[in-house]
Amino acid sequence: MAKLMLTLSLLALSLSSLGQAHEPSPLQDFCVADFKTSAVRVNGFACLDPKQVTADHFLFRGLHVPGNTSNPLGSFINRPTVNEIPGLNTLGLSTVRVDYAPRGVVPPHRHPRASEILIVLEGTVLVGFVTSDPENRLVSKVLAKGDVFVFPFGLIHFQENIGQGNAVTMAFLSSQNPGVIAIANAIFGSNPPINVHGLAKAFQVDKSVINKLQAPFN
Ligand SMILES: *[C@@H]1O[C@H](CO)[C@@H](O)[C@H](O)[C@H]1NC(C)=O
Repeated sequence: MAKLMLTLSLLALSLSSLGQAHEPSPLQDFCVADFKTSAVRVNGFACLDPKQVTADHFLFRGLHVPGNTSNPLGSFINRPTVNEIPGLNTLGLSTVRVDYAPRGVVPPHRHPRASEILIVLEGTVLVGFVTSDPENRLVSKVLAKGDVFVFPFGLIHFQENIGQGNAVTMAFLSSQNPGVIAIANAIFGSNPPINVHGLAKAFQVDKSVINKLQAPFN
């Protein structure tokens, strides 16, 4: 009996050390975001009472509409978030449509909380990502309509329309809130600015070059 108790308590001990504070998968069919009744944030929004949930909570209309690409980057990003689709809450995914004028770009950026899978609906799009330091290898491809490309979790990546006409891509990200770190904006457009001397050293250029790079953001 004593031996059995010892075995059981050892088993309990080993199970508890393996125990998790949460389950990685959802514990309910859905947790439609409730923006109103609670300020509690547990890695997302609180759940609306399932009895109040309707189909509209899972719906977003309008991603067929082309965006206005008349801007310095020549691209337009339409990304319905959990605010537009409350049913996305806690599900670990989201979507984005990008329109590109000829030579339009989505400049180098990274998503701190997601991988991304991108599909070309129209046009010819140069895409790429760069592996971590010290390799810093560019992994790049020219994509045509129907091609699919993956940007791995957190890596710097970019898109550029290298075709004659407009381009359109759809992408899906592995977070309801993937976040965006636009490299140029973060490095040269931070508020307040990063010390020019330090940036000049980092980029191995004269301070005047850094001043020029910072200028568009001021
Ligand atoms: C597109 O954006 C530009 C620049 O903001 C603006 O001048 C133009 O009227 C917009 N075009 C349409 C169709 O909304």
